[in-house]
Order: sequence, then C-alpha cells, then structure tokens
Amino acid sequence: MEAASLRIGTVDIAPALVLAPMSGVTDMAFRRLVRECSGDAVGLVVSEFISIEGLTRNDLKTHRMLRYDASERPIAIQIFGSDLDRMAEAAALVQATGVDIVDINCGCPAPKVVRKGGGAELLRRVSHLERLLRQVRRELSVPLTLKIRAGWDDDSINCVEVAQMAEAAGVELVAVHGRTRMQLYHGASDWDLIGEVKRAVDIPVLGSGDVVSVATARERLRRSGVDGLLIGRGAMTNPWLFRQIVADRVGEAVAPPTVAQRLGALRRYRELLDEVYPTKATAARLRGMTCRTVKGFPGSAHLREAVTHTRTADELLDVLDQFERHPHVTSRLAGAVA
Ligand SMILES: Cc1cc2nc3c(=O)[nH]c(=O)nc-3n(C[C@H](O)[C@H](O)[C@H](O)COP(=O)(O)O)c2cc1C
Repeated sequence: MEAASLRIGTVDIAPALVLAPMSGVTDMAFRRLVRECSGDAVGLVVSEFISIEGLTRNDLKTHRMLRYDASERPIAIQIFGSDLDRMAEAAALVQATGVDIVDINCGCPAPKVVRKGGGAELLRRVSHLERLLRQVRRELSVPLTLKIRAGWDDDSINCVEVAQMAEAAGVELVAVHGRTRMQLYHGASDWDLIGEVKRAVDIPVLGSGDVVSVATARERLRRSGVDGLLIGRGAMTNPWLFRQIVADRVGEAVAPPTVAQRLGALRRYRELLDEVYPTKATAARLRGMTCRTVKGFPGSAHLREAVTHTRTADELLDVLDQFERHPHVTSRLAGAVA
C-alpha cells in the first residue's frame, strides 16, 4: 500500500494520512486529541473552515479559531469565502500565524455558504475561482492547497478540470471529496473519479470520503492510486484510526482500542476542550464525542441515554466513572440523571 509520504514546498506530510477539515469538530481540542491517540501516524491536521469575512472584519470569535498548539504541526488552516481581495487578505492573516499550509474550501454545501458564492459554489464559477487562486498565490510564501468536491451535481462533474486549473494557478495539492454538492453526504464517494483527478495532474492528490477503517483505507488507496487520504468521520468515532492504518501497512496486528483507552481519551478530551471553550460549550462537544465513542460498548445504548441527559462535563464524567466501575448498572443511571 502506498501513501507513504508527501512533500509540498518545505512541508513534509508523512505519512500521507490527513485529518480532514470538519466544521464544528476539528477545533484545536479535537486535533490535539487525534494527535495524542494516533501520534506521528497523522501526517497533517486541518482546521475547521474559517470565514474570510470574519477574519478580515476582525471578528474576535473567528480569530480565536486560528489558534493551534505547536504539538499539532504540521497544520493547515482552511478558509472559505468568495471575495478576491478578502480571500487574499485572510490568507495573509492566516500565514502570519506561522501555519504550515493555507487551504481554500471549495466544497462546503451549506446553503448559507454557497448563497454568498463560497464553498462548493466556486465549482460553478471556475474563472472566478482561477482569479481567486492566482491572487492568493501571489500573497503567500507557504504552500496553498485546495479542497474540492466532484462537482456541483451529476450533470456538472468538473473536478478534473478544476484540479488542472488549480495546478496551473500555483496550487500545490488538491484534496477531492468524491461526492457532488447536491449529494451532500448521501451515497458513496466516487473513488474512481478521484483516481481520474490523480492521473490528470502532476501535483499530489488526496482522496476523501468513507475511509472509516484499515480495510477501507487499503481499498480506496489501491483503487484510486491517490497520494494520500483524508480521514474525517472515521476519526470522529476512532481517533486511533491513523495509527491502525500505519500498523496495518507495516504488517503489525491492529488491536482495536479497549474500553479503558476510549474512556481515557474522553477524559483527556474534556481537559483539551476546557483549554479552548467556556464550560457550557465543553459539555455539548463532550456529549457528542462520547455518544460516538461508546458505540459498541456492552450496554452502550443505556450509557448513551445516560450521557445525553447530562448537563455538565462533570456530570458526564461521573456517568463514565460509574460505567467503568459497574457497567451492568448503567441502565439504571439513565433514569437517575434524567
Ligand atoms: C461534520 C462535518 C463537517 C465538515 N466540515 C468541513 C469543512 O469545514 N471543510 C471541508 O473542506 N470539508 C468539511 N467536511 C467534509 C470532510 O472534510 C470530508 O471531505 C467528508 O466528510 C468525507 O470524508 P469522511 O467520509 O472521511 O468523513 C465536513 C464533514 C463533516 C462530516
């Protein structure tokens, strides 16, 4: 299996396994959690998408999203929007943080983003996108990368053409999510199409969509011949996945994380969240992560039920402590904390 490593500019992405950008998920806390669970098996982490409007209008909340920890490196920060001058200005602001790579979002399907000309809407405005990329490229000394979808809809698949244009405009890597904007997250990501993009350009191409296990990583790489993989939702349920994929590659046995490791990771995630957010926001994110993480535990339905009724991170960790001590009585807890 390939996807050993990549180099763009002076940045090594080794191995070529990348934590995909996910809005509301890949904040500093989650990125650090994945780095701690998978270690140097994560070649690159990417931030959630960050609005160029918020950045260039000095919105404090948006600027806070630029924070990262040195332990996360190499790191790419992704920005989204449509206006040429604001995109260039925002890219320069991002570069000034010392980040390794600036990435532009060209795939977000959300109505509030595409209505304003950003995200996947840029796939329908290829000449505007070309001007935008050239202007940003002139502004940056760090590598510029682009994340795209297959196209807008089944009748306008244009990822090959967009990737070729981007390469000519100075983009140094393209990541392709093989669904259209209209598909949102339905159906399957088209890895044959991703393979077509790979063969059409000389810059590295990363594939994205439905890599959720060692087996799917192996199969998608072989099928498409891409240089590397983005892993999104797979990392949300299994932040050890990168490590498992690398272990598989070198022929080591892949042990699934134990219940104790999963509970330990949740406790650590709470600490990492506390460094970023006020208490209320911490509880909501921790609840979401816990419900995903405990799927498959013995008695997990009851545990999830108990977790959804907790109001604070402390309450939630109490439920986990109880579960660890007495997994069989968690069903009663569901009623107790409701
Ligand atoms: C909750 C969520 C948020 C996402 N946010 C972003 C984003 O901010 N920028 C982006 O380029 N893609 C975003 N994506 C798309 C992912 O990066 C990825 O391409 C997609 O989920 C398919 O890969 P997966 O099956 O590994 O999750 C998001 C996906 C999810 C599930």
